[in-house]
Amino acid sequence: MTNFFPTYLAMGQTFCNRTAELKHLKRNLESGVPTLLISPRRYGKTSLALKVLYQENYLFTHVDLYKAFSEEDVIRYILNGVGQLLGKIEAAPKKLLLLAGELFSKIHIRVAYHQAKLSLEFGKEKTLSIELLLQALEKLDALGVKRKQRLIFFLDEFQMVGEVTPNHALEAALREIVQKAKSLVFIFCGSNRHLMEQIFSDKKRPFYKLCDQIQLERIRAEAYIPYVQQAAQETWKSPLPADVLETVFRLTERHPYYVNKLCSILSRYDTLPTAQTVEDTWLQYTQENKSMTERELSLLPLSQRRLLMLLAQQKEVSGPFHRDFISDSRMSLGAIQAALKNLLRLDYLLKKPDNSYLIIDPLIKSTLCLDL
Ligand SMILES: Nc1ncnc2c1ncn2[C@@H]1O[C@H](COP(=O)(O)OP(=O)(O)O)[C@@H](O)[C@H]1O
Ligand SMILES: [Mg+2]
Repeated sequence: MTNFFPTYLAMGQTFCNRTAELKHLKRNLESGVPTLLISPRRYGKTSLALKVLYQENYLFTHVDLYKAFSEEDVIRYILNGVGQLLGKIEAAPKKLLLLAGELFSKIHIRVAYHQAKLSLEFGKEKTLSIELLLQALEKLDALGVKRKQRLIFFLDEFQMVGEVTPNHALEAALREIVQKAKSLVFIFCGSNRHLMEQIFSDKKRPFYKLCDQIQLERIRAEAYIPYVQQAAQETWKSPLPADVLETVFRLTERHPYYVNKLCSILSRYDTLPTAQTVEDTWLQYTQENKSMTERELSLLPLSQRRLLMLLAQQKEVSGPFHRDFISDSRMSLGAIQAALKNLLRLDYLLKKPDNSYLIIDPLIKSTLCLDL
């Protein structure tokens, strides 16, 4: 059975819409413009970048820095990306080894050909330096120029760089290569928007104004509908009634991950779901995840938890600075402001253009509304 609603990455046919963003990114890559993809986590940044990279048949490497816990890790991960790209440029093992030997002969990296893939190996005793990384990227770029090939470096979960580096030297080196590269083009993305903004929007830091930015929002209902209806048609030989669709979108608030999560549960049912089935399914899903969500929330200070709960339970959206909200909260204005600031920083909340606050994760919101 086809899985129309993956909850890992939305690839191939399961990738829905985002036409403008795909076009934008494609154009940037063609013209060599470095790009920053930005959104809260699980909105579809990685899926979007990979979609373009596969679709356009680019020679690329996807370096996920999520588990890079030190500057040395970051350097090693990026160097492995260089190794992967080399493997894609030159598929014949002997030529590849020759090429790698040529490129890295002076910079003391051992090159191995391992399980049909090129890999770079670094002695543990050797400290990997920023200088070494810069040289490797420069050589890779020169090779791309020589071969007339566009090479894409996709650096995912890039906020880790800001977290693990003691100063901005690595960022400065990367800026240099991003700016002067002729065949290498960079895509950056990261899920902690606060940390990403610190790296990319702080005038004092090397990445300031380095990239063109693509911001991902939630996918519009009109864009989801044809996709969901086609899946319904194939699953139950019938489209979903309008009220069922409306319930799916209302409960998930069209958060891309949760739309897929809910729809993937629904698509296991033998019969066409009703609006009530959708409500029951979401409630059950919320209850099943209750202890995990609560454990996550319990790490927040009391004032932040309290504010989040009040925002979740608001019947009419009056906002945290409304007179009634303040009196209901029994918190001082200063305490509300401090808690808000932290919840925004930690990506629990998003400030909408109309100045209201949105709880980003609909599962957290429904957990906080349980038993009301
Ligand atoms: N274009 C899309 N179409 C359908 N579902 C999507 C799309 N983008 C993201 N999703 C859903 O969101 C989930 C998270 O996507 P991912 O690319 O990992 O997000 P991010 O990199 O922003 O954290 C996917 O597994 C999928 O369920
Ligand atoms: Mg991602």
